[in-house]
Amino acid sequence: MLYGADYNPDQWPEDIWPDDVALMREAGVTTVSLGIFSWSRIQPGPDEWDFAWLDRIIDLLHAGGIGVNLATATASAPPWMTAAHPDILAADENGAPYWHGSRQHHSPSSPTWRRLASELVRRLAERYGDHPGVVMWHVDNELGCHLNEEFSDSARDAFRRWLAGRYGSVEQLNDAWGTGFWSQRYASLEEVFPPRKAPFIRNPSQVLDFKRFMSDMWLEVYLMQRDIIRQAGATQPISTNMMGAFPPANYAQWAPHIDVITDDCYPDPLDPQRPLTTAFQRDLVRSLKRGTPWILMEQATDAVNWRPTNPSKKPGQLAAETAQSIGRGADGIMFFQWRQSRAGAEKFHSAMVPHAGTRTRTWNETVALGERLAELPALPAPGDDAPVALVFDWENWWAVEGEGHPTRLDYLQLVRDWHGALVRRGVMVDIVPPEKVDARYRLAIAPFLYLLRSSGADALRAFVAGGGVLAAGPFTDIVDDNDRFRDGGFLTQLGPVLGVAFEDFRALVPPARERIAERAGEEGSAADAAEDPRAYARFAGRVAGSGTIVAESVWADDAEVLATFETGPSAGRPALTRRAHGDGSAWYLATMPADLDGVLDALLDDAGVSGELDQVPAGVEVARRGDLLTLINHGDEAVEVTAPGTVLGSENPFGTRTLDPQGFAFVRAVR
Ligand code: GAL
Repeated sequence: MLYGADYNPDQWPEDIWPDDVALMREAGVTTVSLGIFSWSRIQPGPDEWDFAWLDRIIDLLHAGGIGVNLATATASAPPWMTAAHPDILAADENGAPYWHGSRQHHSPSSPTWRRLASELVRRLAERYGDHPGVVMWHVDNELGCHLNEEFSDSARDAFRRWLAGRYGSVEQLNDAWGTGFWSQRYASLEEVFPPRKAPFIRNPSQVLDFKRFMSDMWLEVYLMQRDIIRQAGATQPISTNMMGAFPPANYAQWAPHIDVITDDCYPDPLDPQRPLTTAFQRDLVRSLKRGTPWILMEQATDAVNWRPTNPSKKPGQLAAETAQSIGRGADGIMFFQWRQSRAGAEKFHSAMVPHAGTRTRTWNETVALGERLAELPALPAPGDDAPVALVFDWENWWAVEGEGHPTRLDYLQLVRDWHGALVRRGVMVDIVPPEKVDARYRLAIAPFLYLLRSSGADALRAFVAGGGVLAAGPFTDIVDDNDRFRDGGFLTQLGPVLGVAFEDFRALVPPARERIAERAGEEGSAADAAEDPRAYARFAGRVAGSGTIVAESVWADDAEVLATFETGPSAGRPALTRRAHGDGSAWYLATMPADLDGVLDALLDDAGVSGELDQVPAGVEVARRGDLLTLINHGDEAVEVTAPGTVLGSENPFGTRTLDPQGFAFVRAVR
């Protein structure tokens, strides 16, 4: 188990360094991420290099038994560079540059920046590639964090090249982007720009491609640095720290290129759903490389300083959040940062060593946590055996929230709602793109999968044919990869397996809810004769309620209607359908149930999936990795939990025990 933090010794006089190492040992620190923002110290001028301080601190840490996760230091370009090479600067949607004085002001597309960054990374890799104290490489930092999109001339040129690679010719691009609309036809790729500021809704296909392009630019920065490190002969694992469900970076595409998934997570203390929101993030990053552990590369020991107000964590919350990460697959727990900065933009941000020193709750909690982690026996690898796949797809995220749609959606929250309902039941779930839905799962839920690639549709159909239970919809299977309607209407790919045909979307104006009754109205179901009354009876009493966001009008041509709309624009039409298919079944939701519980219970029942515990008390989370159960009480009251198995590291049965608020336990499960 790695334990440690970002370490920024270049912010401090050198005589503090030995104290730092001594305190690190006291806190149980095993590893630090070093030099993330050190470019201007390493290269103070175009032809000046200073590695001596870095040699000294790496040697000192190594002698103290602390491993170094060495950063490539490219996350903030030095001021001399912007003065000498203004073409490295990123630009906003007006084309106006971002200047130095903060961080990440460079364009990832800039050839000059790439050349200078390559030189830095090459020197670092050649110098430290075989240093025994360097255990891992930390490429850049949170790629794209502040520059989700940037519109500089470098971006423009790179975008044109990227489009040439994707489409081959301007004719293909015109077709893909539907430029016949609003006089947007291009005569050459040289006329194409990034989607800079425009008077009204911008071409959605262009916007979608630009998001793909930005994700690819940051990935290219990672790949460039990774290749340089490898060419220098370094053999340590290489990673770059992710940010969970971070909109601009399609991590599902990045993951195969990254040796170890590392993630930064800063739970919002004011988020009423906090433990569920963070559980989603942990499951998402675990699912990026199923069956392998990941590293929590950054969390805060206490308050952050970049939200409008920054309350402290509750006593014990830090340990509980750490347990959640471990329970959901983490094999490393790291913080931003080791020693609280005394100057600069983050001086109010918490750290392992607060500015007030070691006579602090934060220091005591981090030392206690280090001790607790050091006592843990070797943990099983996260199993690749979650029974449920929740489909979450970045390209769809970009497209489904586009402008000019029937209604505005918060896709991430809608997917999280399903995830939260599964977590409350103690059901383990992977969060994957549709292509990753395969026979290892028993249930797949695909909400709001508006952009459905044909490869994804193939996987979902094969999943049902192979005996899986698929729940799709609403607002699903609407556009192709370029955000164009497919020929032949909607649900063109999944309709046959769902047994449903699509008529219209019927957006609901929030907070409108339309009542759903179990099979109250038969109108719209052409399949009544084929209905299986036993199947209907199995789900009776569970699928009534109300629907939100859309009340679609669909035809259940070859599916059983489990519930119909009683009110609203689609009154009398199917709200929830099921088509049995071999051993599997395909369900369609023509609305987003306001309360997911009944429908989810019916789906889990259909798929034969149950939670990890017989009873999951309210506020308690249970997660499983291999045969290890992690139980956490996120509530404010003590609660009794019963679990099968023995307390980790002993022969004592867990039985029924009380978990205090923020209390947690690790249990070796008996299965
Ligand atoms: C992260 C970043 C760190 C630090 C931290 C503060 O996004 O990687 O460098 O700024 O936030 O919470």
